[in-house]
Amino acid sequence: MTIDSKPGSLNGISRLFATLVLLMVALPLLADEVVTGQSFELDGDAQAGKPLYRTHCADCHGERGRGDGSWAGAYDPPPSDLTREGLGAERLFLATRDGGMAVGMRATMPAFRHTLDEQSIHDIVAYIQSLEH
Ligand code: HEC
Repeated sequence: MTIDSKPGSLNGISRLFATLVLLMVALPLLADEVVTGQSFELDGDAQAGKPLYRTHCADCHGERGRGDGSWAGAYDPPPSDLTREGLGAERLFLATRDGGMAVGMRATMPAFRHTLDEQSIHDIVAYIQSLEH
């Protein structure tokens, strides 16, 4: 009977719907996994990064990366000490490209993806890693 087939087709539609919803939730998670699961390889030139760092970062993070730039006092929490133990190249890169919120910190750390190309960010990260701890 047609009455029997209706619930059946409705079931089919809601199953399809449920699958679509699941995909909508799962795909970004999977994409995220792919992005963060990539092993990050730093490919930067510290010498090229030095002037870029001085122009774009030193006012807040300080010439030596200690978080003591001339603007530092205006921020609470203050700019991070970029020489702190355990701050890896990937986190340095992500925070710089996508801003503080990309690494669970505040948007007071600006994103530089519209200001600097990826190679320049690699160079800056290489320079930061050359600074003394
Ligand atoms: C306008 C000030 C300002 C400028 C300019 C700035 N930062 Fe920051 N940055 C901050 C602040 C403030 C934080 C800390 C945010 C927080 O604590 O939530 C931060 C955090 C960071 C972090 C996160 C470190 C951690 O503790 O995990 C990195 C990496 C970073 N900055 C790199 C850079 C680099 C590289 C540049 C230059 C390309 C730069 N920042 C320019 C203010 C700035």
